[in-house]
Amino acid sequence: MSDHNFYDSLVEFAEKKPLRLHMPGHKGRAMAMEEWDALAPLDFTELEPTGNLYGGDDWLEDAQRLWAWDWGMDTAFFCTGGSTQGLFTLFHLFTHPGDTVLVDRVSHKSIHNAMALLDLHPIWLSRPWDEANCTQKAVDPAEVERQLTAHPELRAVVITTPTYYGVLTPLEEIAACCHRHGAKLIVDGAHGAHLPLVLERKHNCLLGYNPYACCDGVTISTHKTVAAPGQTAVVLANRVALPEVRRASALTSTTSPSYVMLAALDKLRSWMWKHRDAYRRTAAWCSELRRRYPTLRGEGLDPCRLVFQVEDGEKLSKRLQAMGIYPELEDRHHVVAILTAAEEEEDLHRLCRALNFYGYLDQAPYAAHLAPPPLPERAMEPRDARFAPCGKCHLERAVGKTAAEVIAPYPPGVPVVAPGEVISEKILAYLYQLCYDKSSVVLVTKERPKQR
Ligand SMILES: Cc1ncc(COP(=O)(O)O)c(C=O)c1O
Repeated sequence: MSDHNFYDSLVEFAEKKPLRLHMPGHKGRAMAMEEWDALAPLDFTELEPTGNLYGGDDWLEDAQRLWAWDWGMDTAFFCTGGSTQGLFTLFHLFTHPGDTVLVDRVSHKSIHNAMALLDLHPIWLSRPWDEANCTQKAVDPAEVERQLTAHPELRAVVITTPTYYGVLTPLEEIAACCHRHGAKLIVDGAHGAHLPLVLERKHNCLLGYNPYACCDGVTISTHKTVAAPGQTAVVLANRVALPEVRRASALTSTTSPSYVMLAALDKLRSWMWKHRDAYRRTAAWCSELRRRYPTLRGEGLDPCRLVFQVEDGEKLSKRLQAMGIYPELEDRHHVVAILTAAEEEEDLHRLCRALNFYGYLDQAPYAAHLAPPPLPERAMEPRDARFAPCGKCHLERAVGKTAAEVIAPYPPGVPVVAPGEVISEKILAYLYQLCYDKSSVVLVTKERPKQR
C-alpha cells in the first residue's frame, strides 16, 4: 500500500495541467455553476494517473482499503449513488433472484425497490411497539431466531439500524443467529456513519466501536451524518473481496462515478479522526436537550439524534420553520433533528430560544396513543407488483386494490403498504391518522401474465 493518498494524487495530477481531451466536458476549467469551479480540476475520469473505481491496484483501491482498516472490516467500497446503491450492491452480493429474505418491516423504500428488481420474496420481521416513545423498538433477536427456524429457506436477514428515529438494534446476537442458520446479515446503516465516534463501548476497530463489525455487509450514507457531499456512501463487508463487491455494484451504478465525491470520501477518513471530540460534544449537548425538552429518551438511542415527541409534530415543525429552523422530518407526534459535528453551540441556543418561545421547555414527552401500523395482506410478490401495469388512483378509492409502489410518508420513507400489498379500510384509516396527504397512489391495474 502506498503512503500517498488518492486525493493528493488527483491534486498533483491536476497541477501538471494535462491537456484533457476526454470527459467531463468542462475539462477541469469553468463549470456552468461557478461555485463549483474550484472543484473542476479534480473532476476527472478514469485515466491511468487517476485510477478506476472498477479497476484496481491503484490509489483508489488503497483509499478503500484504509477505510476497511479503520472500521475493522474486510472490504470497503465507495458509492456515488448513496446507500440506495449500497443496498442494491449488498442484495446482489448476498442473495440470488428468487431467494426468500427476512426483512425488517421498518425498511426504507430503496430496500423494497432492490427486492423488486432482484425478485426476492420477503418475510417481514416485525418489531415490538414502544408505547412510551410511539415508535418501533429494536429488533428482538428471539424473533429472528424464531423466523430462521420456521423458514430454513431464508438466505439473508435485513435490518435497519439506527432507524430514522435513532433506535439502535445491537447486532452481535442476531449475526450469530444468522450465521448458525446459514443466512447472511445485511444491514442498512444509512444513518450510522458517525456511530464509531460516539458509541461508548469497548473499541473493536481503529475508529472506536463499530456496531456493524459482526455483519456480512452494511451500507453507511456518509452524506447523512458525517461531512461528505450528497450521494456519497460506503459499503463495508466481511468475508468478500473488493472485486466481488465491485462486480455486484456495477449492475445498478453509473459507469462515470464522480471523482470529486470519491476524493471527498478519501478525505473524509482523516476528517473523522479529527472530529471525534466534536461528535462527543454534540452527543453531550443532545443528552442535555433531551433532559430539558419533550424528546425520545432511554437506552439504545443514537446519541446524536434529537427526536421531539409532541402532541402535534407538524405544528412544531412549522413553528420552527417560521423561525428559519428546518428539521429533518416531522410526523404526527415527532420532529426529528439530525445533529452532527458541524453543529455549533450558538445553533443549539437558537433552537432552544425557539422552543422556549413556544413553551416547550420542561414539557414531558407527549403520551401519544398511536397504534403500530397494521400489516397489510399480500396479494402479489414485490417484483410482480412493481412491474405490473399500473395507474394512479385517489387514495379514497384505493380500498381493496394492490399497491404497485410503496405507500410511505417521506421521510422516513418506511412503507405502510409495500408493493404487492392490499389497501384495506384499516390501512386507509391509519394513513389518514398519520395525516398522509398524498391524494393519489400508484396501484396495480392488471396482473401481467408470467412468462418464465
Ligand atoms: C434508512 C435509510 N436507508 C437508506 C436510505 C437511502 O440512502 P441514500 O439517500 O444515501 O441513497 C435512506 C435515505 O433516506 C434511509 O433513510
